[in-house]
Amino acid sequence: MLRLPRPRLHLLARLVAAVSMPIAGCSSEPDAAAPAVADADVTGELPCEVATVLASRCGSCHGAKPAFGAPMSLVTLADLHRPAVTAPGRRVRELLVERIASDARPMPPPPNARLTDDERRVLTDWATRGAASGASCAATAQTTDPAAKPLSCAVDLRIRPKARAVIPSDKADQYVCYGFERKVDKKRHVIGLAPHVDNLAHVHHLLLFQTPEAMPGEPFPCSVSASPAWKLVAGWAPGVGALELPPAAGFPEEGTTHWAMQVHYNNAVGAAGQSDESGFDLCTTDQLRRYDADMLATGGLEFAIPPRARHELSCQYAWGAGPSGSHTDGHPDIRIFSVFPHMHKLGRHMSVEKLTPGNNKPLPIMAPQPFDFESQYNRPADTLVERGDVIRTRCTWENTSDQRVIMGEGTADEMCFAFLMYYPRVESRDWSWSTPSGSLGTVCEEYAPR
Ligand code: HEC
Repeated sequence: MLRLPRPRLHLLARLVAAVSMPIAGCSSEPDAAAPAVADADVTGELPCEVATVLASRCGSCHGAKPAFGAPMSLVTLADLHRPAVTAPGRRVRELLVERIASDARPMPPPPNARLTDDERRVLTDWATRGAASGASCAATAQTTDPAAKPLSCAVDLRIRPKARAVIPSDKADQYVCYGFERKVDKKRHVIGLAPHVDNLAHVHHLLLFQTPEAMPGEPFPCSVSASPAWKLVAGWAPGVGALELPPAAGFPEEGTTHWAMQVHYNNAVGAAGQSDESGFDLCTTDQLRRYDADMLATGGLEFAIPPRARHELSCQYAWGAGPSGSHTDGHPDIRIFSVFPHMHKLGRHMSVEKLTPGNNKPLPIMAPQPFDFESQYNRPADTLVERGDVIRTRCTWENTSDQRVIMGEGTADEMCFAFLMYYPRVESRDWSWSTPSGSLGTVCEEYAPR
């Protein structure tokens, strides 16, 4: 184990410049060894058993009209025998077998539950034995927003672009950003946030940030470097519901708030003439709740992932118990109610835990779980962190490249952040939301995981 505890005050500035979303691609690599497929029997019906699993577990995205960036339908027998849109030389049914078994890029994507063993067996047995036609049944798929859990509060703020974003037909992946200004005369609390997905066919995910400065309200193509110092507030990927704050807390809105949206479009099928005005719906109130909520980022800034290796970073931040006289003195006990893990494309696994002095069993704040760059969203949490407790954030990467990879804002760089929503908000001049990931008091170690 390589132990690297050192002060990182100078890195704070880098953190602020670094929280951003890289440009992603969703294409699968063609497998040169794929067998040639004979496709005689594509006129019959899907066997009922198979159609039932596809309709209930895949149909919300891969319906007759594909939705949320899914590149194809999985409804008819012919759909399954078609060449894959993103993998030349391969059939949809071959990719299906891979993706339902994949832990790194599973279908359905998280947070949707994985297939049960039975469901997986039905699809795999049938697809690997030639995917023949069979006796059909009446199962039908519906394209609905799986995020459909509505807000229980009244929406009074709709974050939308000033003009519709044009979704290019010649790019499989496109990131678009826009700003949204909101000025209030009197303090208000944001108590609920829900995604508004306009173009069901091509929106792949949404991220909502607060930014230090105003951004243009018209959508513009953006990447990584366009988003320095952005505080991640909420995210949506298909299957994620609305976020409601606990009854004791609200995100304060005072004076002018600069919101920013980042929308990821997926248009692998090259559909022309598509546009979108996705955003977020917020409930805000002047009936202030007892506490202000806020966001803080844990994780670490300094690491080097060796080429062709699995690598882990483990960082600890002692809550309210730093060196005496330090900025963590006077921190209140806090309750964490949401966790948003963020790494880049080499990220494979992440956990956030609480360590309590005298108790050597860590308590999960966010259970250890696979990380998938394509599916980033808030996980509900409910953990009290008291003075003296330690928050430990662990990130595992798999470096498939020949380069050493370090922290940075580029697509080829990496990150390790957990955005934790909590209350009551820390009020301290020397402390900012990014402090726990990069300050004196954050102790990190790096190692090759067992
Ligand atoms: C919540 C929406 C959603 C659900 C549910 C879902 N998918 Fe997908 N699927 C996607 C998206 C988005 C993509 C494109 C991005 C990617 O490849 O990860 C995709 C891609 C795929 C691909 C790769 C296609 C290619 O050409 O690369 C396969 C195969 C697939 N899905 C199969 C399934 C199966 C089988 C199920 C059900 C067991 C399922 N999916 C459920 C959204 C979904």
